Amino acid sequence: MKVSAASKLCIFLFTSSCFLLLSSGLQFNSMPYDYSATIECVAEPRRAQYGGGIIVNPGFDDSINGWTVFGHGKIEERMSNDGNKFIVAGNRTQQLDSFSQKVQLNKGMIYIFSGWFQLSKGSDIVSAVFKINGSELVRGGHVIAKHGCWSLLKGGIVANFSSSAEILFESENSTVELWVDSVSLQPFTKEQWRSQQEKSIERVTHSNKTALEGAKVVINQTRPHFPFGCAMNHHILTNSDYQKWFVARFKYTTFTNEMKWYSTEKIQGQENYTIPDDMLKFAKENGIFVRGHNILWDSIKFQPHWVLSLSPNELREAVAKRMNFVVSRYEGQLIAWDVVNENVHFNFFEDKLGQNASGVYYSAAYHLDPNTNMFMNDYNTVVYSNDKAASPANYIKKLKQIQQFPGIDGISLAIGVQCHFASGQPNVAYMRSSLDLLAATGLPIWLTETSAAPHPNQAEYFEEILREGYSHPAVQGIIMFVGPKQAGFDSTLLTDENFKNTSIGDVVDKLIREWETGSHTAVADSKGVTDISLHHGDYDVTVTHPLTQYSKTLKLNVRKGFSPDTINVKMNA
Ligand SMILES: *[C@@H]1O[C@H](CO)[C@@H](O)[C@H](O)[C@H]1NC(C)=O
Ligand SMILES: *[C@@H]1O[C@H](CO)[C@@H](O)[C@H](O)[C@H]1NC(C)=O
Ligand SMILES: *[C@@H]1O[C@H](CO)[C@@H](O)[C@H](O)[C@H]1NC(C)=O
Ligand SMILES: *[C@@H]1O[C@H](CO)[C@@H](O)[C@H](O)[C@H]1NC(C)=O
Ligand SMILES: *[C@@H]1O[C@H](CO)[C@@H](O)[C@H](O)[C@H]1NC(C)=O
Ligand SMILES: *[C@@H]1O[C@H](CO)[C@@H](O)[C@H](O)[C@H]1NC(C)=O
Ligand SMILES: *[C@@H]1O[C@H](CO)[C@@H](O)[C@H](O)[C@H]1NC(C)=O
Ligand SMILES: *[C@@H]1O[C@H](CO)[C@@H](O)[C@H](O)[C@H]1NC(C)=O
Ligand SMILES: *[C@@H]1O[C@H](CO)[C@@H](O)[C@H](O)[C@H]1NC(C)=O
Repeated sequence: MKVSAASKLCIFLFTSSCFLLLSSGLQFNSMPYDYSATIECVAEPRRAQYGGGIIVNPGFDDSINGWTVFGHGKIEERMSNDGNKFIVAGNRTQQLDSFSQKVQLNKGMIYIFSGWFQLSKGSDIVSAVFKINGSELVRGGHVIAKHGCWSLLKGGIVANFSSSAEILFESENSTVELWVDSVSLQPFTKEQWRSQQEKSIERVTHSNKTALEGAKVVINQTRPHFPFGCAMNHHILTNSDYQKWFVARFKYTTFTNEMKWYSTEKIQGQENYTIPDDMLKFAKENGIFVRGHNILWDSIKFQPHWVLSLSPNELREAVAKRMNFVVSRYEGQLIAWDVVNENVHFNFFEDKLGQNASGVYYSAAYHLDPNTNMFMNDYNTVVYSNDKAASPANYIKKLKQIQQFPGIDGISLAIGVQCHFASGQPNVAYMRSSLDLLAATGLPIWLTETSAAPHPNQAEYFEEILREGYSHPAVQGIIMFVGPKQAGFDSTLLTDENFKNTSIGDVVDKLIREWETGSHTAVADSKGVTDISLHHGDYDVTVTHPLTQYSKTLKLNVRKGFSPDTINVKMNA
């Protein structure tokens, strides 16, 4: 089941009974977003996704044919009590000792990987690894595998070269057996990938075939719904070109550094909120919603310098003051808080104040500002498959710790993924697989700090990243950490020093226009049908009777998760 990024409306018009039926597209035959992704460890693995794709013998129905020992150790087929067959690597001595299969990777193709993993004892991180061209190792995804149940690993790679490769598996603890089943590697062309992001349609059928041919339908967007925003910094207070540029484009923002603890309390006890206050005032005057970034940051490198010399008790007191000050000050005025920034990668507060520190501070923020979304916010999770530390599995582990903290019931917890991409072809396969896994938590996801490092194809790559985020059903907002040169942005520039669009600026302007549907006019065909694709947002739909010119307007709200709907319009002409 998939909820499309843009819902296609199918409008049927009928004479006399005068029904206008609206249905949204929710069906996708080519199954791009695997909503069955699970983060639970289950008794039996599911069948291989895509029938295994290009993997030979993906479900081990044919013993272990097609698979060979990688490194040292022994491999064999085994069967569960229920008769399910899988492969086992035992007697391992190195973390890469496992089994492998040769595959051919072709330049420009996008490969989605999945597989189910179990260990003979304990629990450990297991990675899928591509050995490319006989030497280079590229990790394609990670999962925390356990004994006693099967865990799903999802990931993938994008090939920017053609080469043969070996797919194999890694588990640091070589004293345990690695069990694997239902392995899949499915290639997609960029065109197939793109078409999966496009909208789909599910038609409503109606028994009355008397069509209202020639009726005119005008659809007019009154407000785009999908939050597509951009970071803002203090230059907005003094640079009027920056102000004009920003206000013409964006309704959502995050202040890059101005709300952070190191900015508001450089010297202990001397708080100064002048700049973030003024920026918030500017945002409000221009109808721009602001994400609060951030209350605390779990990295030792980004504390106000005076914090580092505090004793645990002094630190606890200072943090409580910071929390109270900043959250109470902006209570009810922001759409989100990044509460303990980067607490998957780092643990400054956990080390100093106890393992439950994140839980303590999410709970505290929630009680001070109960109606605002409280985000986790970390980097690399959907971006860089070689970073095990912040893999979706580890992100979800941290999230569960917070969810289990007492007193947190009712919190609107949300998933923030920063999305700073390094230079080069973005791994959109890993991005989609990782978003699928995070989406299985049922929580909303935002891309909170989207950027792409300089590269000759930077604009093209940035577009791929933004489209991937926008079209994922669980992604409910995107903020880019980019901007104009005059505001000091340097990596992903939208305008040059004279506020002229860069090629990336052109991409962003194009997407803003594309994701606003604007106004549409259509005429019903002989079957009374008109197909119009609508992006999320609020619309006025006006239907005009072909003979009488009588017209009727209704309000329509297209949201993510918009379900098939029937609207009856009486047109007693
Ligand atoms: C179809 O429309 C005609 C004309 O108004 C009406 O008489 C008939 O009852 C409708 N049939 C159904 C099945 O709705
Ligand atoms: C590991 O070695 C032991 C002893 O030789 C053997 O019994 C066992 O089957 C081996 N494991 C695998 C997976 O082959
Ligand atoms: C490896 O796994 C075994 C069994 O779970 C465990 O006893 C051992 O401590 C682990 N070793 C490491 C280095 O984690
Ligand atoms: C693979 O190795 C060959 C020979 O060493 C080299 O010419 C080629 O560029 C390599 N390809 C990639 C994609 O690294
Ligand atoms: C569409 O809606 C906007 C905003 O409400 C309004 O200004 C405009 O006139 C409308 N256009 C049409 C064609 O209805
Ligand atoms: C607070 O910050 C503003 C902006 O930087 C500055 O103008 C002002 O002097 C500061 N206030 C105090 C009391 O330091
Ligand atoms: C959190 O951990 C600290 C230190 O370990 C402990 O004092 C406190 O009671 C814990 N709080 C909760 C609610 O578990
Ligand atoms: C492929 O992409 C990687 C990472 O972006 C880069 O390091 C490598 O040089 C690229 N290779 C080719 C052949 O473009
Ligand atoms: C940037 O380009 C778009 C068209 O792609 C245009 O609408 C916009 O005005 C340009 N902005 C500037 C600042 O030139």
